[in-house]
Amino acid sequence: MSIAGRDSDGGGDGNNGLYFREAGELITGNPSQKWPQNIEYLSGFGSHFSSEAIPGALPEGQNSPLVCPFGLYAEQLSGTAFTTPRSLNKRSWLYRIRPSVTHEPFQPRKPRHESILSEFNPENCSSTPNQLRWKPADFPESPTDFIDGLYTMCGAGSSFLRHGFAIHMYASNKSMENCAFCNADGDFLIVPQSGRLFITTECGRLQVSPGEIIVVPQGFRFSVGLPDGPSRGYVAEVFGSHFELPNLGLIGSNGLASPRDFCAPTAWYENDDHLGYTIVQKFGGDLFTAKQNFSPFNVVAWHGNYVPYKYDLSKFCPFNTVLFDHGDPSINTVLTAPTDKPGVALLDFVIFPPRWVAAEHTFCPPYYHRNCMSEFMGLIHGVYEAKAEGFFPGGATIHACMTPHGPDSKTYEKAIDRGEKSGPYRIKEALAFMFESSLLPRICPWALESPSRDPDYYQCWIGLKSHFSPERCGKLV
Ligand SMILES: [Fe+2]
Repeated sequence: MSIAGRDSDGGGDGNNGLYFREAGELITGNPSQKWPQNIEYLSGFGSHFSSEAIPGALPEGQNSPLVCPFGLYAEQLSGTAFTTPRSLNKRSWLYRIRPSVTHEPFQPRKPRHESILSEFNPENCSSTPNQLRWKPADFPESPTDFIDGLYTMCGAGSSFLRHGFAIHMYASNKSMENCAFCNADGDFLIVPQSGRLFITTECGRLQVSPGEIIVVPQGFRFSVGLPDGPSRGYVAEVFGSHFELPNLGLIGSNGLASPRDFCAPTAWYENDDHLGYTIVQKFGGDLFTAKQNFSPFNVVAWHGNYVPYKYDLSKFCPFNTVLFDHGDPSINTVLTAPTDKPGVALLDFVIFPPRWVAAEHTFCPPYYHRNCMSEFMGLIHGVYEAKAEGFFPGGATIHACMTPHGPDSKTYEKAIDRGEKSGPYRIKEALAFMFESSLLPRICPWALESPSRDPDYYQCWIGLKSHFSPERCGKLV
């Protein structure tokens, strides 16, 4: 357990709703927040943290005293059922200036957001066994915040039934102002591809850059600031499960993502009046809004193991083949949201980071395969090792259950031409990732009809020619 002090700039400093990108350049959004250069975080994954923005704000010896220190309200946020076994139970206690319940009734948001789904069926989506690929989405031209810039690509199951997933993307250019988002449907795993995200949560603030990820668990209120303006990225959402670190099996007790590299925020609060502050709640895939006259970021202290957290993907410790053949991509799993079946994921988050490739007499790019799992891939930067061209940073692919895929023709020929001569080589400056699910995704109509979709994706494999010759053994002709 650790107790963090307040941030270096303190809380509630009345910054008139402006913060700085570079000297002389002001960015609006996230009213009354001035972001320090370096934000303090708590280290660990799944830990029971404690944090106070004012020393002494956490009650001692109990969670819900008759009167909390400094007159705060105690409020529990439950991320699992009360009776979930202790090893899986997640909850936090928040000590806040006014409780979350103090708001006007929720109303359906107008206009309705037309491009977010949390229940996938034949009436609202299509299924296809074809390989799908999209070019990077354009940045919006009109003011668009994180909520308006969010659109669902595909998914399966239902948030109502607490089983399933959704994969979204976002393209935004404006910070959320006087407004917080709350996802009642599931956990968000956000992968920024372009532009930093300054995210304020009820547990504190996090700065997330491309190359990092953030997980905002179900139910947390959060606001997204865009200090770099136009921003773009990917979001995986899981219903009825939470992300956890994968088991390491025979790897042992070290390797892949280390628990100490996960960063939880420290308590930070604002105490100003915010007339007409809007809570936007995603509930069953629809958005609802409620007004209140204060910021939801009024938690002076908190403790618990249900928290938002971020992770720097460059800290991932990859394992790989050191003699011959090719490991399965599961060896690069950062986080997994499990199902009730052992070893079968509702959704895995897998990365393909810079690393040495050292196998001998082996076809080193990803092998050709068909998978009972379904794969959504994105590219944060660089060139993905299985695609010589056509898959760009900010783009996406979907290879659903049993849909064949693998290296394109140019990548295959290049790997064969390289032969045994080049020795070990390093994949540099590339960072791709995969959301992999055991559920079969349905594709949203706006994704299938998008002008960003590449209708000629299949062509990248059409050029794969036969090298077969019964007269030759082990040599290409
Ligand atoms: Fe694959």
